[in-house]
Amino acid sequence: MLRSHTCGELRIEDVNKKVTLSGWVQRIRDKGSLIWIDLRDRYGITQLLLEEGRSAQELIDKARTLGREFVISARGTVIERVSKNHKMPTGDIEIDLTGIEVLNKSKIPPFTIEDNTDGGEELRMKYRYLDLRRNPLRTNLALRHRLSLETRKYLDSQDFFEIETPYLIKSTPEGARDFVVPSRMNRGQFYALPQSPQTFKQLLMVAGYDRYYQLVKCFRDEDLRADRQPEFTQIDCEMAFVEQEDVLDTFEGLIRYLFREIKGVNIEKLPRMTYAEAMKTYGSDKPDIRFGMKFVELNDVAKGKGFNVFDDAELVVGINTESCGNYSRKQLDKLTDFVKKPQIGAKGLVYVKYNEDGTFKSSVNKFFSQEDLKVWAEKFGANPGDLMLILSGETDAVRRQLNELRLEMGNRLELRNPEVFKPLWVVDFPLLEWDAESGRYHAMHHPFTSPKPEHEHLLETEPGSVSANAYDIVINGVEIGGGSIRIHNRELQKQMFKLLGFSDEEAQAQFGFLMNAFEYGAPPHGGIALGFDRLVALFAGQDSIRDFIAFPKNNSGRDVMIDSPSPISQEQLDELGLRIVEGES
Ligand code: AMO
Repeated sequence: MLRSHTCGELRIEDVNKKVTLSGWVQRIRDKGSLIWIDLRDRYGITQLLLEEGRSAQELIDKARTLGREFVISARGTVIERVSKNHKMPTGDIEIDLTGIEVLNKSKIPPFTIEDNTDGGEELRMKYRYLDLRRNPLRTNLALRHRLSLETRKYLDSQDFFEIETPYLIKSTPEGARDFVVPSRMNRGQFYALPQSPQTFKQLLMVAGYDRYYQLVKCFRDEDLRADRQPEFTQIDCEMAFVEQEDVLDTFEGLIRYLFREIKGVNIEKLPRMTYAEAMKTYGSDKPDIRFGMKFVELNDVAKGKGFNVFDDAELVVGINTESCGNYSRKQLDKLTDFVKKPQIGAKGLVYVKYNEDGTFKSSVNKFFSQEDLKVWAEKFGANPGDLMLILSGETDAVRRQLNELRLEMGNRLELRNPEVFKPLWVVDFPLLEWDAESGRYHAMHHPFTSPKPEHEHLLETEPGSVSANAYDIVINGVEIGGGSIRIHNRELQKQMFKLLGFSDEEAQAQFGFLMNAFEYGAPPHGGIALGFDRLVALFAGQDSIRDFIAFPKNNSGRDVMIDSPSPISQEQLDELGLRIVEGES
């Protein structure tokens, strides 16, 4: 028997039991007459003890040959520790060793297997199997497991079927590039890996499986960020015979269930905000509503006073930061540098300090009187001691910039507590967005999203002003999921493709299968997909999803452990009918 117990299991009640434990040597402390070995497995750490004079000498000699990360099986008796460690669940006991078997040796690991390892990112990724031995990663994967299990339980209780859909498919447009796979049997032809199972889940609705879900891998060739991986997992869902309200209810239910079961947190009914309101008051379609600092527009009071920057701007808008009125020149300069960074791109920052004595000090004192500034302060709901920060420019750009500044101030003032969770629904997204570069409309969500029925008549004349039955679930400023009520009518789908610049032939060639299916009794349907990796990271209060995925890719989309992507042999290329054109990338 290689083990009778795990390394996390034994307690004071187990004293005198004869046990066998197996695991990895975390640490050896050799004090001459006493030797302690910390033995680790997935479940915890148990201390093993050898004592000169009491333990067999050959056992002591053997222990001295062990190194870090050796895999051993250890036999012995559970005894009470003389000096207990209350921080460890097994800290009351240790094992008085009677036998050690080395199951496998280990080279010295390239970094320490400790909570705070000395290993850099690249090294940890290269030896991911060692990194995964560390506690923080193990806890992350345990949380991921719990979340997937509870998700399945909830959806099962709501009569959802988990149905797998294929990975070798034809392009599904979700706004990113496809990863493609060449077909040997169909030379010159390619499969695309799904950016999501969107069309398949809709076909399942046509097939009558009116509640579908899947924890599913999706593949998107897009620039990577902390919350984006080229392959990631969705909780993908679709329902038939539903309206928007039904979908929101069901998935609000899921989110509240998960918070309750896993974090013991009761979430209030989710507030809703329209897209237009989110953009106007937070400058973002994923507002972090853990803190205030709502945008206040100042066009009516800030223009026409001779300050050209404001007079020429489409929008003058600001935020009030409570109790920051004592910011020094240096701190204000830092904020100005922040908004002027090329990634943010503001030209400058106007500040107004509301002094404790009721007067105002601003960077635009020349143009605005104390009375003018008093009116601003009233608009902001500011109090003495506060600091108002104002940007101006073209509406979309200035909102985006102020959003960055608001989040930065939220961070500085520690208003973004990762243990506080504030989810909301953002609803009424526009159906289309204009892309100046290509000179045409793009689907804001995806081309299968339905316009609001009351806006359908505007599709021909004013497509840009049509709202969609589309919604996002946002938690703490992170887009956790998005979905919509779909088009289920062939003609409307055809019209949508046309608006997006597809000819009838192109639409038929790419999506004929779906439009044909709509002619065989497609029920009204809608759904949502939640980013599972993001959800897990959020539950752990972290921004990056990488350490919640067992084997993630690095920032250049590489797996440095298996060294992928990598070239393939000439034979493979020949078989697939592919030729590499040198000199281009
Ligand atoms: P969408 O494209 O909004 O919708 O994706 C749903 C959710 O998936 C997560 N997500 C990602 N997570 C990690 N890495 C990525 N590269 C990545 N891209 C997206 C986000 C996002 O909100 N088929 C539709 C859903 C539907 O309409 O039902 C879809 O895929 O959390």
